[in-house]
Amino acid sequence: MTVPFILDTDTAQDDCVALIGGLLDPEADLRAITMVAGNVSFDRQVHNAQMTLSAAGRLGTVPIHLGCQRPLVLPWVSAENVHGDGSGGLDMDFAGTSTEAEHGVDALIRLTAESPGEISVVAIGPLTNIAMAAVKEPDFVRNVKSLVIMGGSNNGRGNITAAGEFNFFVDPHAAHVVFEAGFRDVTVVPWAPLTLSDAVFSRAQLSRIEAIGTPLAKFFLTVCGPTLTFDESVGIPGTTHPDSLSVGVLLHPELVTKAADYHVAVEMSSALTRGYSAMSWGVHGLEPNARVIEAADAEGFYGWITGLLATRTEVSRPLSGGHFY
Ligand code: RIB
Ligand code: CA
Repeated sequence: MTVPFILDTDTAQDDCVALIGGLLDPEADLRAITMVAGNVSFDRQVHNAQMTLSAAGRLGTVPIHLGCQRPLVLPWVSAENVHGDGSGGLDMDFAGTSTEAEHGVDALIRLTAESPGEISVVAIGPLTNIAMAAVKEPDFVRNVKSLVIMGGSNNGRGNITAAGEFNFFVDPHAAHVVFEAGFRDVTVVPWAPLTLSDAVFSRAQLSRIEAIGTPLAKFFLTVCGPTLTFDESVGIPGTTHPDSLSVGVLLHPELVTKAADYHVAVEMSSALTRGYSAMSWGVHGLEPNARVIEAADAEGFYGWITGLLATRTEVSRPLSGGHFY
């Protein structure tokens, strides 16, 4: 039985790897991609998604819906200092490629309403689209089977600031709306400690990916490699993969080795702690609103990714440029 879901993404670097999981894992039934303002310029995110579809030999097979192009309240904040253009300088002939006329928020509402309680959503960017859908159509909250959110930290360090993880920092108001909305089944894949302990690929692991030798393995290294320099410069011994872990735990729940219910609340007002996720573990009289993953099978996750990258694909269109890391 495949897993139907929508991927809400700010397609850059690890988002591309998450998309490959949604395209090539036999368990995945990826119904749509909804784009949200996040990592890099919105148009570049769309191109990164189309190049990822092409690398997987699936260009034009999954609808791309353009969602919110800025956060709800605060101005957009880029992560181009981390990701560059988000795909390592790759390019492609985009003539004739298309995105859907239907807005991403409307697509989220429609697709989940057409199959109430059957379609999950994996949100791996700022939560602007998810919040807008919940506000525009309250039934959306009831219609989503499960919501997997990459964001925040479990009482741990941020990444764009000491307190703020990027997705929640960019749109803390959207994160607040989502955690207060009452979704029936919310799973959070946090930055710290989880990603930093169980979803970092070392140089040795990257070398093993290079040895796979497929076009997808080269694509992976091209889109993820540029962040290696940044990650190592801030003390992370490799490339980070929280977005693909988010798709991984939806498709393969056995990758989760430890999780617990928490009440998650996100700081909206303070400049110092904007986007901080206060995850209360039940001793503060707060009703849990999410299941937070505390540990994952790091080797199993790496094996899942390398298995995907070993897939022999015929690219839909040639990709050019790109600088190996
Ligand atoms: O903080 C990690 C998140 O922001 C991931 O979704 C990644 O795309 C980064 O931009
Ligand atoms: Ca992302």
